[in-house]
Amino acid sequence: MLRPIVKHGERVLQTPALPVTQFDESLHTLVDDMLQTMYAAPGIGLAAPQLDIPLRVCVIDLTVGKRGGEVITLVNPVFVERDGMQLEEEGCLSVPGFQATVPRPSRVVVKGQDVHGHEVVVEGTGLLARALQHELDHLDGRLFLDRLRALQRDLIVKKIRKLRRVGKW
Ligand code: NI
Repeated sequence: MLRPIVKHGERVLQTPALPVTQFDESLHTLVDDMLQTMYAAPGIGLAAPQLDIPLRVCVIDLTVGKRGGEVITLVNPVFVERDGMQLEEEGCLSVPGFQATVPRPSRVVVKGQDVHGHEVVVEGTGLLARALQHELDHLDGRLFLDRLRALQRDLIVKKIRKLRRVGKW
């Protein structure tokens, strides 16, 4: 089922999400809905808080569903390694229409669980490292805007406020 994606300004996006403790049918449904919604957007990553669900779940698929078997589903993910530095443009389905260059580590290793509660370890470099950090940020109540210099962030937030005033956000 497609679900609406909440946008910048909603409290759920600024609140640390809660750990998943029940690996039940409702978690499977949530992950299915997240994938459908991400592909429809389209996007390469989505975190549960973006669907107004305050749980530590995210999905990533750099192929946007074009190749099978490349979906990464992470429940309760944490970083175990982070190194290097990369500077690339980044956007977010909750901040549509805005992009900015965000500094991120160039390689990360993340440990988490799959939908059945089994341990998974994912190593990523380049775009995958960026996507993993972006989604884990969502689970901690952070958007990519929070990684920008204040001046740059304020400029975007001002534009969003203007859009909201005219009912276009
Ligand atoms: Ni995002």
